[in-house]
Amino acid sequence: MENKGISKKIIITLRINVDFFNQFAQDVQQGLSASAKYLSSKYFYDTVGSQLFQNIMELPEYYLTACEYEILQTHQTELGKYLAAGVDGFELLELGAGDGLKTKILLRNFLQNNYHFRYLPVDISPSALHNLTEDLHKNLPNLTVQPLVSEYFVALSQLPASADTRKVVLFLGSNLGNFNHTQALFFLQSLRQGLQKGDLLLIGLDLQKQPDLILAAYNDSQGVTKAFNLNLLQRINRELGANFDLANFMHYPLYDPYEGCAKSFIISKLAQEIYIEQLACRFELGAWEAIHTEVSYKYTLSGIAQLARQSGFVVKQNFLDHRSYFCDSLWEAI
Ligand code: AVI
Repeated sequence: MENKGISKKIIITLRINVDFFNQFAQDVQQGLSASAKYLSSKYFYDTVGSQLFQNIMELPEYYLTACEYEILQTHQTELGKYLAAGVDGFELLELGAGDGLKTKILLRNFLQNNYHFRYLPVDISPSALHNLTEDLHKNLPNLTVQPLVSEYFVALSQLPASADTRKVVLFLGSNLGNFNHTQALFFLQSLRQGLQKGDLLLIGLDLQKQPDLILAAYNDSQGVTKAFNLNLLQRINRELGANFDLANFMHYPLYDPYEGCAKSFIISKLAQEIYIEQLACRFELGAWEAIHTEVSYKYTLSGIAQLARQSGFVVKQNFLDHRSYFCDSLWEAI
C-alpha cells in the first residue's frame, strides 16, 4: 500500500515537470519562429530570475515596491477591517506571492487582531515559495499556511467553494500589468468565476506618471534589469541546450505614454544563428532584430474602475501612496 502511494506521488511530480518542460520548449520554438520574435515574461522566474527580481525590488529606480509597502503599512488596519467585516473567517489566497515581504505586514496585523484566516500563497517559482514558507514558519509560527506551486489559473480552479468563508485574493506588485488588455480582462473574468458575490480582490496596479520615472524603473543604472531580461536567454541555454552568447545581445526597454505601457526587448547586436539542442532547431537573428520579452502596463484610476466593472467587480476603495505613484485597489465581486 505504502509503496503504491509513494510511486503515485513520483509519477505526478514527473508529469508536472515534463508538462512544464514541453510548454517551455514549445513556447520558445513558437516565439523565436515568429516574424516579430517574442518570449513570454512568465519564463523570467527560474531560480536565478527570481533572485534577480528580488534585487530589482530593492533598486532605487524601481519605485513600485516601496510605494506598495508604504500603502500596506499605512492602511493595514483599515484593510483588515474590510476583509474580516461580517464573516467568521476568510481564505487569503495570494497569486504570485514571491518573497511575501509586503504581505507580511498584513499577515502580522491580521494575527494580532485574532482574525480567523488561512494563507494560501501561489507562485510558479518553487524556490521562491519554499523560501517564503520557511520564513513564515519561523517568523509567524501561528499562521496557517498552505503553499501552492502552480500557474495562477490552475490555482484558481482549486479554490475551495464554501458559502460561509469569504475568499480574499491578493494580486499585488502590479503583476496584472504583465498581461496585455485582453489577457488581463480574461484573467480577471476567470478569477471572478472562482469567486462568489461579496468576495474580495486586493489588486496592486502601477499608475501612469512622468514617463522618465517609469522608464528608469526598467533601465536601472546598476544593470540588474538588464541581467533579469537577458537571463531568459541563459535559461534557454541551461534548460534547452541553446548557445546564446549574451555579449551579442542588449537589453532595450521603452515606455509608450500613449498606451501607458513599459515594454522590454532583447536586441541582437549582429546577424547570428542560434542552435537549440532540445528543439533540434536553428534560428536566424538579423542585426538589430528585436525579441519582445515583456509588457508592464500602467493604469489610471478611471481605467481601474472600468476594468473592475468589465470583470464583474466594483471598486470599494483605492489606496494610494503619498506621491500617487501606485494604487492598491480593493474590489468586491458583484
Ligand atoms: C513582476 N512585474 C510586475 C515586474 C514589472 O514591473 O513589470 C517585473 C519586472 N520587469 C522588469 N522589472 C521588473
